[in-house]
Amino acid sequence: MRILLIGSGGRESAIARSLSLSPECEALFIAPGNAGTGEYGTNVPVGVLDFEAIGALIDAEKIDMIVVGPEVPLVKGIREYLEDREGRKPLIVGPGARGAALEGSKDFAKEFMGRYGIPTARHLTVDAANIAAGEAFLRSLQPPYVLKADGLAAGKGVLILDNIDDAVRELHAMLAGSFGAASAKVVIEEYLHGIECSVFVLTDGHGGCRILPPAKDYKRIGEGDTGLNTGGMGAVCPPPFADAEFMEKVKERIAIPTIRGLIAEGIDYRGFIFLGLMKVGSDPMVIEYNARMGDPETEAVMPRITSDIVPLLAAAAAGNIGEAALEVDPRTAVTVMAVADGYPGSYAKGTPMKIGSAPAGSMYFHAGTANDAEGRTVTAGGRVIAATSLAPTLAEAAAMSFAAIDAVEYDGKYYRRDIAKDLI
Ligand code: AMP
Ligand code: GLY
Repeated sequence: MRILLIGSGGRESAIARSLSLSPECEALFIAPGNAGTGEYGTNVPVGVLDFEAIGALIDAEKIDMIVVGPEVPLVKGIREYLEDREGRKPLIVGPGARGAALEGSKDFAKEFMGRYGIPTARHLTVDAANIAAGEAFLRSLQPPYVLKADGLAAGKGVLILDNIDDAVRELHAMLAGSFGAASAKVVIEEYLHGIECSVFVLTDGHGGCRILPPAKDYKRIGEGDTGLNTGGMGAVCPPPFADAEFMEKVKERIAIPTIRGLIAEGIDYRGFIFLGLMKVGSDPMVIEYNARMGDPETEAVMPRITSDIVPLLAAAAAGNIGEAALEVDPRTAVTVMAVADGYPGSYAKGTPMKIGSAPAGSMYFHAGTANDAEGRTVTAGGRVIAATSLAPTLAEAAAMSFAAIDAVEYDGKYYRRDIAKDLI
């Protein structure tokens, strides 16, 4: 099978590695990829939103299956574009725009959960027409207050505020456009107290699914979960608190009702549904859906999948996941992400890097890296490179990943030294 993977982050590095390990993978192209993905296939300098060039690439390289990593092309309808155009029709892993609205519109997601009885925080969606009701709802809640831009805001559209006056002020600012069109509607939500985890569900649009092992992401920049939110600074798969009993609840109360709801709405969802969950007491509640896998969770989840992912993805994309295998390594994976100094604020790019081969039991996943004109590997993003290690215990896997990331050299390297420590 000839496969095209769309994206350029650490998530795509981890997916590319697993695809490349498959005996069924005859050729792999990554558009646009990064300085590391060239190890697994051929990087092609085509942007994730250049649908025309992606279509041309599918024809030129006789692509049989396309796997879409990030959300933006999905929300913008890459599936519909590829289905409607003249030319080759590959299998597509990733939902159409209506399915991707689970991520692209928080209001749609909340209404959807309401229709199918999926446990989530109480909410009210506010726009310019009902600001007064929004203020009243805010005042009826206990602090902290959660305000979410309805649309995509590059992971930055959620504000959590301790003070009611700040919350009311931010509500007005958001509706006045502080997140552009994304905050023309704002979802006000009750704050959930608990511990977060991410669960990816691969669905075939016809009721078949596989639930991938759960992961915990570390979102804040600072140790002890302090400072600004980031794309994610590390991950653990599986976190011990997501035990079999909890995962059974995730399946029965969330995954299955979500899949049934999509079918009931006539949405043929073939791809990953990312359940962003809060474990409240012993019960899962949905904080958000995404229409893709998470980053850096994928860097911890993918290396644990020991069965061939190509037939699994192909079966889901063909609409019949059937008995396709999903086998999981019993060891624990810990991923540590190294970032550029200044991230998630402004940071330098183009810093030369020295990356040796990974120590035994560990692997590197490039994220924001590129090759410069002289062919040297340089930094090219805020989240630069991740190390993932597999070991019988969390403590061992974490220690191995810290050692692996210590061995990577570039000026301004920063990583959290407390990844997994809260769980050990
Ligand atoms: P989201 O983009 O929806 O994942 O929100 C970003 C982060 O805000 C989440 O990962 C949570 O840490 C936090 N968050 C969002 N909604 C809630 C909520 N209702 N209660 C508590 N924390 C929340
Ligand atoms: N790590 C969270 C996300 O990918 O949205």
